[in-house]
Amino acid sequence: MDTEVQKVLERTKAAEQEINHLESELKAMQQNSSNDENDPAIEALRTENSKLKYQRMHLQRAINEQSKNSGKNMTSLIKILKNFFQESLNSSYPQLSHCTVDVTPSTKITFGDYQCNSAMALSGEMKKLGAKTAPREIAQNLVAKLPLSSSEVIEKTEIAGPGFINIHLKNSFVLSELTALITKGVRPPYVGPTKRVIVDMSSPNIAKEMHVGHLRSTIIGDSISRLCSYVGHDVLKLNHLGDWGTQFGMLITHLIEKFPNYKTEMPPISDLMEFYRESKKRFDSDEEFKKTAYQNVVRLQAKEEDYYKAWLLICHESFKAFNKIYKYLDVQNLVNRGESFYQDLMKDTVEMLDRNGVTEIDEGRKIAWPTGEKGQGVPLTLVKSDGGFTYDTSDMAALRHRLFEEKADWILYCVDQGQSTHFDAIYQTAQTAGWYDPKEKRVEHVGFGLVLGDDKKKFKTRSGDTVRLQELLDEGLMRSEKKLKENNRDSVLTPEEFKAAKEATAFGCIKYADLSHVRTHDYVFSFDRMLDDKGNTAIYLLYAYTRIRSIVKNTNLSKEEIEKLAANATAESLPIDHPREIRLAKFLLKWPEVIETVYKTLMVNSLCEFLYELAGVFTEFYEKCYVVEKDRTTGEIVKVNTHRLLLCEATANVMRAGFDILGLQAIDKM
Ligand code: ARG
Repeated sequence: MDTEVQKVLERTKAAEQEINHLESELKAMQQNSSNDENDPAIEALRTENSKLKYQRMHLQRAINEQSKNSGKNMTSLIKILKNFFQESLNSSYPQLSHCTVDVTPSTKITFGDYQCNSAMALSGEMKKLGAKTAPREIAQNLVAKLPLSSSEVIEKTEIAGPGFINIHLKNSFVLSELTALITKGVRPPYVGPTKRVIVDMSSPNIAKEMHVGHLRSTIIGDSISRLCSYVGHDVLKLNHLGDWGTQFGMLITHLIEKFPNYKTEMPPISDLMEFYRESKKRFDSDEEFKKTAYQNVVRLQAKEEDYYKAWLLICHESFKAFNKIYKYLDVQNLVNRGESFYQDLMKDTVEMLDRNGVTEIDEGRKIAWPTGEKGQGVPLTLVKSDGGFTYDTSDMAALRHRLFEEKADWILYCVDQGQSTHFDAIYQTAQTAGWYDPKEKRVEHVGFGLVLGDDKKKFKTRSGDTVRLQELLDEGLMRSEKKLKENNRDSVLTPEEFKAAKEATAFGCIKYADLSHVRTHDYVFSFDRMLDDKGNTAIYLLYAYTRIRSIVKNTNLSKEEIEKLAANATAESLPIDHPREIRLAKFLLKWPEVIETVYKTLMVNSLCEFLYELAGVFTEFYEKCYVVEKDRTTGEIVKVNTHRLLLCEATANVMRAGFDILGLQAIDKM
């Protein structure tokens, strides 16, 4: 990164830390003081705080400028507008400079492009200071004091209702931003210095079938990882496999007894589910077997060679099945680091927690109360009364390893919502132990809801069994093939193209159906719905994308020619003035703000909504704005509207960037 940008960042970080510090000091003083109006110490802190916020705003602006000039990033229009309004607030109401203004996209196009609705809240803040000021008056002053430079961006503002400020962008500004998008390509917004991000995802259990919950974790985790890489972070994807525990005693015992030659001959255990069932049956009915199984766990834990080898064989067989699924779903660079990896760190971790003073003995077990307060929340069980460790212990050991060895700045756990109490307790305990400060590190449970069947009950096969993922994905392939054939794609595409389209559709649809739902909600799994080419589905988007590609192809210009046109585009050479061209241009420029939202909330559905809407806005544009004009009688091309061609290219590029984050395979022909 630019050293200049780095410097500004460091200063911003220092200013931010100072602000946090002052704010907590201020709060503490306010709590202790009955009448803070006249307290000079509080007043001094307030002034200091405002000054720093002012400084931060300028630094933020410098960062925007720098990242824009470096060409590596796009700047969200919201950020640009926010800065103008913040600056205006500081000069029109210096006493409110500790407050922040907010700018959001307009709810209706007729209201303008963006709006600032902060006047109401600011009026409340004024009241706290003992001044009665109507929100409308505040809105008027905010508009009046907008900095001069804002006139290059804002065409006009209107004040509506109690004090909403509607903002209309200037076409010349939109055009210059669009030109940058065309010449420099689709780029991420600047989100801060590079971070080390760990994503705990997928995490199925060895010797058990991967189920739809793991499918969600895989899809969501992969998309969030892609997003974090896209904005420039350094991402480590960890597969926290359930590969340790007492059940392995029974599994290895069964393996050793049933296939005594296992060390030299690979045992035929590809149906691991069946193998698991057999072992469990013996474990539950045969006392002798049970005893041996327990002894073998101890041997396994001591890593005795024969037992360890048996365990490895079972793990490998599972990996084979898992990897097939990851390959289908195009999940790359997923590092297997299951519970077994943390075994050797458990003892040490518990000792560390002892030293941190968060453990206690309760009826022979060693536990930890998350907040350090007895009776508050659910305690973690770190050591069982028989001396064994638990799922809690392995997650504490994993967190410790990720914080202190991997030095992660963010650790995101894509695990079903059902485990939220567990993760709350893990994170809280770690904070109580002083392992990290949530203000500095983002350690978060990225939870998700259940996958339901058509009957709105937990997704099951007709016979009531859990659905095998492999079978589900194969069914997806079959159905997407049928769908494409219904649309006669097999007669248009070559066999290779058809295969690519089939796979992109099948896996794209399954991923998209998951990602387009609010992740914290349950969602109904329905092939019919996800393969509906008229709804908000991957197949609809993939078609939209290929359509744009074919429009571009119809110009008969080569890829190089188009690239050259794009690279040399200038605001003057783009006569964009049709309302639908302008609407499309403005919509494309939302890209950085959408990415910022997803980055902040980790709610990928906002990106899906954006792409779906973009496809609609593009269709409206194309209805009215021809790219190629042909002679009616000869059908020959008489004119190519270059600026529209470049709008098509930009749309396709934005879509593609979106597909990349969602993990959809963009195909040129479908
Ligand atoms: N293997 C667990 C399960 O299937 C999920 C593990 C999630 N990750 C974690 N760090 N606990 O429920």
